This record gives sequence, structure tokens and C-alpha cells, in this order.
Amino acid sequence: MKKDTLLTHVGRDPEKYEGMVNTPVFRTSTVIFPTLEEYETRDGDDYKAVRYGRHGTPTTFALEEAVARMEGGHQAVAVPSGLAAIAAAIRAFVRSGDHLLVADSVYAPTRNFCERQLRPNGVEVEYYDPLIGADIARRLRPNTTAVFCETPGSLTFEMQDIPAIAQAAHARNIPVLADNTWGTPYFFRSFERGVDVSIHSATKYIVGHSDVMMGLIVADEPSWLPVRKTVADYGYSVSPADCYLALRGFRTIGVRMKQQMANALAVAQWLDSRTEVKRVLYPALESDPGYPIWKRDFDGAAALFSFVLDGAGDKQAAALINALKLFSIGSSWGGYESLVVLARVAKYRTATQWNPGGATIRLHIGLEDPDDLVADLDQAFAKMTKAAA
Ligand SMILES: Cc1ncc(COP(=O)(O)O)c(C=O)c1O
Repeated sequence: MKKDTLLTHVGRDPEKYEGMVNTPVFRTSTVIFPTLEEYETRDGDDYKAVRYGRHGTPTTFALEEAVARMEGGHQAVAVPSGLAAIAAAIRAFVRSGDHLLVADSVYAPTRNFCERQLRPNGVEVEYYDPLIGADIARRLRPNTTAVFCETPGSLTFEMQDIPAIAQAAHARNIPVLADNTWGTPYFFRSFERGVDVSIHSATKYIVGHSDVMMGLIVADEPSWLPVRKTVADYGYSVSPADCYLALRGFRTIGVRMKQQMANALAVAQWLDSRTEVKRVLYPALESDPGYPIWKRDFDGAAALFSFVLDGAGDKQAAALINALKLFSIGSSWGGYESLVVLARVAKYRTATQWNPGGATIRLHIGLEDPDDLVADLDQAFAKMTKAAA
């Protein structure tokens, strides 16, 4: 099955639900059993039978199956947010005394989790240059138990060479964990590139409509039970109604992302031609240093990228951002709407430096007509220049 066909048919079973095309919302806490024997034996270990609301319902399982199959993983589990997914995935492999390698470009709250929850509890956390590639082998220590990647970094967009990192890590039996929120299961089939555990903020493109917080962890077979048991131990549980919305969003991820990528490319190319802009940080642009890796490993690009102002600092960036009318100021991305934030990157770097020669602004490009988005940016650049004069 080609992936758009799979996306339409996976994770539903109308025959089971009187012909209903979508798996309905099953709300329950309690599941009751006909005999004590069944109560005590149903689904001991793989968490795929209904036995208590916290462990999932048929609605939850439908979403998890759809995402796991699309990405090419063994199984998936839904958790209450993307950050919860990151925390549980790391905790499944890292204990006191272990060494964890983390990309320096990682999402800032991932770094906070490492600094505030792992390091004080005896984990050696080391950040690495996201461009390290096969040289990661030199950072592996006898007590390294996981490598945590995010490709591309969601503020600065450096592409990581995941196959090279995975080859080095796997030679030492170390699992590779990757935040694949940008790539999504649709554009980056991470398991084919060597990822063992793929983490998503489903809040972004999987839900796709800016109305649900959710995370998903997809694992290969050897990593599945450690991940699933950690999620169970922390007691994470998601609402079946939210799972229903997430699966509804996921059905259209293909058309949304293809359109949003086309829109993003149009805006990125326009920005690339502006004298106010020093660099556009978008691996889908041929001028980007990450382009060859992106082209080799990905089927498409998310509509999230940054650009660097040529010499202008945060004050001018603020004038530009405040002048925008179609781009809203907000943290998230992956929905249908365009967004903008000032990316304050430097304070989150320790293994590398971020000094690109001007303020860094991150855009998420939505489903609006790109001509209107370009016109909005154009008038905002004029206001920024006027404010600086
Ligand atoms: C790359 C990345 N990973 C994880 C997260 C966290 O996801 P959530 O907000 O669902 O906790 C975000 C949120 O912005 C993100 O951008």
C-alpha cells in the first residue's frame, strides 16, 4: 500500500462497529470482566487489550496503530503531551550513573528536563554538536545508554545525519531516540533511517488543528516494552475524545503537509531574496547546508523554518513581528495557521555557539494563500525599516 492509501485505511475497523467508518469514542474508566480468571489474565504484558481506562480504549489503540504503521515502527503509545513523550522515552533508557548524549539544538524544555530532572538525579548529560554525524562514536562512553536527536532542530534547523549516528550507536548496542515532530510519520520514516524510538508532539501536525495537546512515542520491537512500561509506571493517560480528534487530524496529514510545504517554500524563497535577510534556515531550500541530508532522508518538509535578519537585532525583530497581521505570535506550530516567534537561541547552547549576525525569527506557514503571507511580510519589513530610520 502506498502511504496515502495506508493513511486512509489504517487504524479503523468499521465491521467491528456496525459499519461506522471511524472508530467511535469509547469513554470509560472501568472495564468489567465475566470471570476472575479473565480479569487476572487478560493482556498481561503488551498493553493492547482493554482492561482499565488508563491503559487505553479502542479509540486510543486505533490512533496508536495508525501512527505506528505509518512511521514503520512496532507499536505506539499516546501520552498527554509531546514533552511527556520526551520525558518518558528518555526515562525508559536512562538511570542514575548512565551517560546520555543530547543534541545541542534540542527543544528547550527537553534541555530543561535533562538539567532539572536527570542531572540532579545522577545522570551524566552531554550535549553534542548537531552536525557531528559519525563522529558521535568518539563521544560514546562505556556508560552511554541513549542518544537523543532532534532533526532538524526546531529553532535553528540543522539537519542531523541520523543514519551515521545510528550506525555508531548501534555498533555499541545503544538506542537512538529522536524527536520527529518536524518530520512527522508522514515525511520521515525514521525507523528506516536507524531510529529506535521516535517521539512526536502530536499537538503539532498529527492533530493539525491547534485544539489538542498530545504526545506519541513510537518504538521498534526491542524498545517497545521498556517504553510502554515506563509510560504505565508514570500513570500517563490520554482522553479517548482527544485520541479521536488526533486520528481525525492524522487522516489528512498528507494533504495538509504537502500544501503547507509548498506554501512554506514560496515564502522561504521570497525571504531568501530580501536584502533585510541574511539567511533562511530551511533544509528544503537548496541553499541550506542541510539540504543534501534532507533530500536523502526525508519525503518532504514541515512548514516550520527560521530566518536571520542581516545585522538587525531583537528590537528591530520586535518591530517586524508586531507589524505582522496574518502571522499570530504564539508558541506552537503544525496547525493550519501561520505563526511567528522571536527565536532566542543563544541562551540554550552549551556545546556550540549561535551567533548568526542578526536576530533569528521563526515562522510557521499555514494554509493561507502564500501571496497574502508574502504581502504581509513585505509591509512588516517596510515598518521595521521605518522604525529603525
Ligand atoms: C520539537 C518539539 N518537540 C516537542 C514539543 C513539545 O510538545 P508539547 O507542546 O505537545 O508538549 C514541541 C513543542 O513546541 C516541539 O516544538
